[in-house]
Amino acid sequence: MSTDSESDTTTDPTYGPNDGVLVVNDLLKQFGGLTAVDNLSFAVQEQEILGFIGPNGAGKSTTFNCVTGTYKPTDGTVWFKGEDVTGLEPHEMVKRGMSRTFQDFAPLEDRTVVRNVELALAPDELFTLSGVGGRTRRLAEEICRRVGLGEQLEQTPGELPHAGMLKLELARAIATDPDLLLVDEPFAGLSSNEVEELSSVLRSLRDHGMTLIVVDHNMRGLLSLIDRAFVIQFGSKIADGTPEEIKNDPEVQEAYLGGDDI
Ligand SMILES: Nc1ncnc2c1ncn2[C@@H]1O[C@H](COP(=O)(O)OP(=O)(O)O)[C@@H](O)[C@H]1O
Ligand SMILES: [Mg+2]
Repeated sequence: MSTDSESDTTTDPTYGPNDGVLVVNDLLKQFGGLTAVDNLSFAVQEQEILGFIGPNGAGKSTTFNCVTGTYKPTDGTVWFKGEDVTGLEPHEMVKRGMSRTFQDFAPLEDRTVVRNVELALAPDELFTLSGVGGRTRRLAEEICRRVGLGEQLEQTPGELPHAGMLKLELARAIATDPDLLLVDEPFAGLSSNEVEELSSVLRSLRDHGMTLIVVDHNMRGLLSLIDRAFVIQFGSKIADGTPEEIKNDPEVQEAYLGGDDI
């Protein structure tokens, strides 16, 4: 548990199960002697777009992996919609309405774009009677259109440009019909036009009721997208605020000295 003293404003607050749609409290993840996530606490509100920012190696993906069940946390608690979901398997998280994209993802190369998305649809959709007669296919097509892959349905993943691959990974994550979507470095390698295009897709998901956490190692492209930024370094929070507040935060600037621009 947190042992905040009143004079220590940098220590994370202690949260309870209903402080947000997702609440992470005192999360700790160690790999042998390495502490990748160091007693991290944060809460995400419904329909918020939270930017989760930090230099490479800061522990962003590890936090995602602990939240979504890929890794079991060493310690700490994860609450989702008020329920303690700490350490549950990934498919249990998906069933509860949590989905994520992976930085290193591998679509099925011998299937078309739309088939890749169809295969990611929530199992409930596949096994209902209404799934017969092309409904799942139509649903997959609709999801592809939502992310801007409407013209590439019958291509194979290998034929897509880099931006198309990122959209496909996003489509596969959306296919499970999540309430909370965690997006890991969606803008890596994109031009500013492509960043803007993908941002508007993410914004429209939020407008339809989704809560989003978007990871990036800097603020590039995130400024106009996110409501709030949460900045970590060495597995700990260093700042939390609006994008403008973060940009002017001395600790954040220090963390990025000599490296990427915030
Ligand atoms: N499976 C793992 N085994 C051992 N160390 C890991 C593992 N995953 C991540 N790490 C380490 O944890 C730290 C945080 O990594 P990561 O969460 O991937 O950072 P980020 O996503 O912010 O770039 C790094 O030092 C990384 O080497
Ligand atoms: Mg990462």
